[in-house]
Amino acid sequence: MPNRFEAKVAIVTGGARGQGEQIVRTLAREGCSVVIGDVLDDQGKAVADDLGASVVYTRLDVTDPTDWAQAVAVATSTFGGLDVLVNNAAIYRRQLLEDETVADLDKILAVNLHGPFLGIQAVIPAMRARCGGAIVNVSSLAGTTSYPAHGSYSMSKWALRGLTRTAAIELAPSNIRVNAVLPGNIRTDMSPTTGSADTPTGLKRQADPQETANTVVFLASDDASFVNGTDVIADGGSLLG
Ligand SMILES: NC(=O)c1ccc[n+]([C@@H]2O[C@H](COP(=O)([O-])OP(=O)(O)OC[C@H]3O[C@@H](n4cnc5c(N)ncnc54)[C@H](O)[C@@H]3O)[C@@H](O)[C@H]2O)c1
Repeated sequence: MPNRFEAKVAIVTGGARGQGEQIVRTLAREGCSVVIGDVLDDQGKAVADDLGASVVYTRLDVTDPTDWAQAVAVATSTFGGLDVLVNNAAIYRRQLLEDETVADLDKILAVNLHGPFLGIQAVIPAMRARCGGAIVNVSSLAGTTSYPAHGSYSMSKWALRGLTRTAAIELAPSNIRVNAVLPGNIRTDMSPTTGSADTPTGLKRQADPQETANTVVFLASDDASFVNGTDVIADGGSLLG
């Protein structure tokens, strides 16, 4: 088993379930110490308990700057520093534009866009103290195209790619890489479909969360040391038409 993250420390938001849980488990398997940040306390604690002392859970509502400061403090006080941030947490809702209110839009933007923005701000000092780091923002295929009733979600995921590029430019002098992953349809609680035959992907199936987690973990690792400010699409080929 590779040990790409030995002596490294990560914060993974939305790590209590779904793709985030698989990111946590994969990082831990590869030697990383991990802080799971989520609002699902029982599920987050259960994942941490299952993985032993190298993984801890802290309540982190990504919309709250105080929670972010606390999560970074947990990483540095428990594990001695911080090298990786995975902005994975998000919420999803299907709604036609004509039915959507500004309040609906703001709820999505608060988690999916303000969350990663606050997270990046919060981790910069700790990563600079380690002379570098890696940030992976989980966007979506809806961040490079869109679908009916995906207005606010799609806006949030497109904007996250802009944040990714700006952060990559500004943080490159600090040796902090920032990239985005654009997954296609993943089999999780969030996923709009549970079947596989009706997905339009070239591979004609949903992703197992481990498959897209692997892409995130690659970008977080030193194997991606020259990959910066870009998007990696992990969609099984659905954009091929
Ligand atoms: N499932 C898909 O088909 C799909 C496709 C493309 C992209 N994505 C993206 O992948 C990522 C993971 O999604 P998933 O499919 O595992 O969904 P999920 O709903 O299973 O997991 C999302 C996690 O984020 C957490 N979360 C929500 N609001 C939060 C908040 N305010 N603070 C902290 N945590 C919060 C949830 O509690 C949950 O643990 C998301 O960014 C999502 O947009 C998913």
